[in-house]
Amino acid sequence: MALRNIVKNGDDILRKVCRTQMNFDDRLATILDDMAETMYNADGVGLAAPQIGILRRYCVIDVGEGIIELVNPVIEATEGEQEDQEGCLSFPGEYGIVRRPMKVTVRAQDRHGKSFTITGEGLLARALCHEIDHLDGIVYKDRQL
Ligand code: NI
Repeated sequence: MALRNIVKNGDDILRKVCRTQMNFDDRLATILDDMAETMYNADGVGLAAPQIGILRRYCVIDVGEGIIELVNPVIEATEGEQEDQEGCLSFPGEYGIVRRPMKVTVRAQDRHGKSFTITGEGLLARALCHEIDHLDGIVYKDRQL
């Protein structure tokens, strides 16, 4: 595994809409491993592919319950509302209040292409929304209250 450079605010790559990941191969597995290592190294709870310069629809999340890998994630349902502080590894040292759903259900594929759904509440719901936003070129600052 290897650490990847995290793209910082101001880089156009954070503003692009990512493309569907079609290949579930060794290259994807390597990048997902690198993303997890990079996220943990930076003390983050999530990292999306565009943040390491790859315009593809996948991300990793760990809110303290173990690593979650999401390839081609789609939000299927949301419930409730929460307002809390949010940060981003691409905006080091900055934080803002963002309104998110309290609960979200996401359908995604794993690194082998197998479909699954995950439901998250609270911080996990926030992280899911934040990372999926990255895949559409949206950063938390766009939603900051
Ligand atoms: Ni972020």
